[in-house]
Amino acid sequence: MGKVVLAYSGGLDTSVCVPLLREHYGFDSVITVLVDVGQPDISEAEQKGRMIADEHYTIDAKREFVVDYIFPLIKANGCYEGYVLGTAIARPLIARKVIDIARKVGADAVAHGCTGKGNDQLRFEAIFRATEFKVVAPMRELELTREWEIEYAKKHKIPVPATKEKPWSVDENLWSRSIEGGILEEPGNVTPEEVYAWTSSKETSPEEIMVEFERGIPTKVNGKTFEPVELIKKLNEIGGRHGVGRTDMIEDRVIGIKARENYEHPAATILLTAHRDLESLTLTYRQLKIKRMLEQEWAELVYHGLVEEPLFKDLNAFIDSTQECVSGWVKLRLHAGSCVVVARGSPNALYSKELASFETKIDGRDAEGFCKLHGLQARLRKRT
Ligand code: ARG
Repeated sequence: MGKVVLAYSGGLDTSVCVPLLREHYGFDSVITVLVDVGQPDISEAEQKGRMIADEHYTIDAKREFVVDYIFPLIKANGCYEGYVLGTAIARPLIARKVIDIARKVGADAVAHGCTGKGNDQLRFEAIFRATEFKVVAPMRELELTREWEIEYAKKHKIPVPATKEKPWSVDENLWSRSIEGGILEEPGNVTPEEVYAWTSSKETSPEEIMVEFERGIPTKVNGKTFEPVELIKKLNEIGGRHGVGRTDMIEDRVIGIKARENYEHPAATILLTAHRDLESLTLTYRQLKIKRMLEQEWAELVYHGLVEEPLFKDLNAFIDSTQECVSGWVKLRLHAGSCVVVARGSPNALYSKELASFETKIDGRDAEGFCKLHGLQARLRKRT
């Protein structure tokens, strides 16, 4: 029945998909694609893919992920109901890499391991279904239990992690770590400390850091230039030490389900806090007002996986245009989970010391004239 290319993570679900695509769906050849967006254990997953698939590809997309996906997200202050869109922003990139390989090997179909309850099926398929390939989603169609999967995996000599039941499901990339499922599903349960891997709750003394931006893109930390991937890693490390960037929230999934979600994202919190502040210094009141509204739309498109919707391109064009003057530095204080801006500066600041200072007085007659006209229409209404 031909070839299928599977978006592969190395986890139990996508591993079980490999023999299922042969036995249940009748494909002659299953090709796995593992896209490296900064998740841990990549070599373990790669080994597994090589072992069980007919052909395996690992694609290092870390730099592309940061430059083409995370940087636009920073410019857009990408945030959906308080979630910094970690999984959501990576899915289109993973899906596109799968399509590249599918074209290269002349595949007939593409597959993913998402279930029918989440958002990721929508994100993969928004990209997949815009191509010539047939789409297969074994986990959604077959509704298998974990016990069945483990048995099936053993039968096919697929290594199953020693830990019996993983208490929760983790999705990780350079931008954020998502932890969901198990006891966390119940919104009334307090998230246990052991859930966290990037952020520490150990007491530290406050630390001040400086982040510099050029046209909305972060370039330096504490005066030192960093490569894009290294910059994110560095800020995850610094912020993580101070417990910065934990989110515990109720999230509205696309299909309507409300879900309790836990996230860790130190670099994202630092960069978005700093970037928003620098925008307040460099953009006009009206630019800020409209941009904040459009940012909601931008985030929703990303959350829904609709990055090929023409509006997404339009929004990015607007956002890019606003970022031309968003250059400068922001100093932040990190301590005990908090991240606050303590100072900022920019050659493009729309701030005038002369105007804001208490020392200099505005000409009283100018101010009086302004007052006379301010609220004019409301006064006219009272007369009618
Ligand atoms: N709720 C998030 C989203 O829809 C993250 C999902 C990540 N999946 C996981 N198995 N932890 O983007």
